[in-house]
Amino acid sequence: MISSSSSFKEILTSARALVQEDLLRTEGLISTIATTAPQGVNTRMEQLVHRKGKRIRSTLLCLIARSGEISPDADRIAHSCAGLELLHLASLVHDDIIDNTDVRRGVRTAHKEWGNKIAVLIGDYILSQAMRCVINEKDRAIPEILSNAANDLIAGEIMELDDSGNMNLSYERYIKIIQNKTASLVEASARMGAIFAGFSSEMVNTCGKMGAHFGLAFQIIDDLLDYGIGAEDLDKAKFTDIANGLITLPVIFYFEVCSPTEKEYMRTLISRASEPKVPEEIIRLLTQQDCFEKTKKEAMDYLDSALSIAKSLPESKFSETLELFFSSMSERTN
Ligand code: FPP
Ligand code: MG
Repeated sequence: MISSSSSFKEILTSARALVQEDLLRTEGLISTIATTAPQGVNTRMEQLVHRKGKRIRSTLLCLIARSGEISPDADRIAHSCAGLELLHLASLVHDDIIDNTDVRRGVRTAHKEWGNKIAVLIGDYILSQAMRCVINEKDRAIPEILSNAANDLIAGEIMELDDSGNMNLSYERYIKIIQNKTASLVEASARMGAIFAGFSSEMVNTCGKMGAHFGLAFQIIDDLLDYGIGAEDLDKAKFTDIANGLITLPVIFYFEVCSPTEKEYMRTLISRASEPKVPEEIIRLLTQQDCFEKTKKEAMDYLDSALSIAKSLPESKFSETLELFFSSMSERTN
């Protein structure tokens, strides 16, 4: 029995079990897309889709889609979930090239395995297939939502790159970046789910906000995990943000309270973040000023907002699980 005291991992496992037929159908579609891809793409894509992620976006879509009063079409749900998961995968393949990371989902990243040129093209192929998944969807809002999310991801990633090394990054700009690069796809998942649930257009917008706030909290926690804060069994490398000169909330909060000399010292430390012991010194200074605590509180505020919307959905085992899913997320460890 899952309850409010269960961990995020346990709740996510039981949420996936609740919508497992939809997820299995989605896996089937994704797997066929990989095996029927052209030679040179197929075996590589098979390897990538074999390394399953947490399936957070598709699980969210299914929980919302199944919380309405109508019984939604399973095939339409699966095509949208496949579109979401493939768009997410394509963006990660490209993101790992941009961030130059070695490990993703516990294994070597695509570009470390096959080189940048092949990895860019495999990412392109996956992106194209993501859009194809919803090409025949009868509600034209669905492909529009997915392609808008792709635009937002790209815009967010460009904003992040334009601001890399910017020690004056504001809180508002940081939120705008993560809204685009992460929350937009989670928002898209929630909106699609609400459409399949047969909700009113007002409720579709409200669910979109719920997804966006959950997505913002998710990325803020992800940024804490990058410092190793609360991390266990992390299946990717730590300190990639600061090593790439990316400022996230803990540092933004530090700069709000520190002196000009301390800011200059922190700036020097961040520029040397790849050297041994430097990340630990950064963490020490951020901890001293409660910057991780403040960051966690920020994530909790967004989660509370998502949670209060989830509570307004029609009561069912799906919406109940959604509530548990949101309330446990701040404690996730990987
Ligand atoms: C992970 O962030 C990256 C994203 C959430 C979005 C990446 C988007 C792109 C590369 C542009 C869009 C590309 C396509 C194909 C549409 P992170 O680096 O903070 O998280 P991580 O620690 O998991 O790498
Ligand atoms: Mg990255």
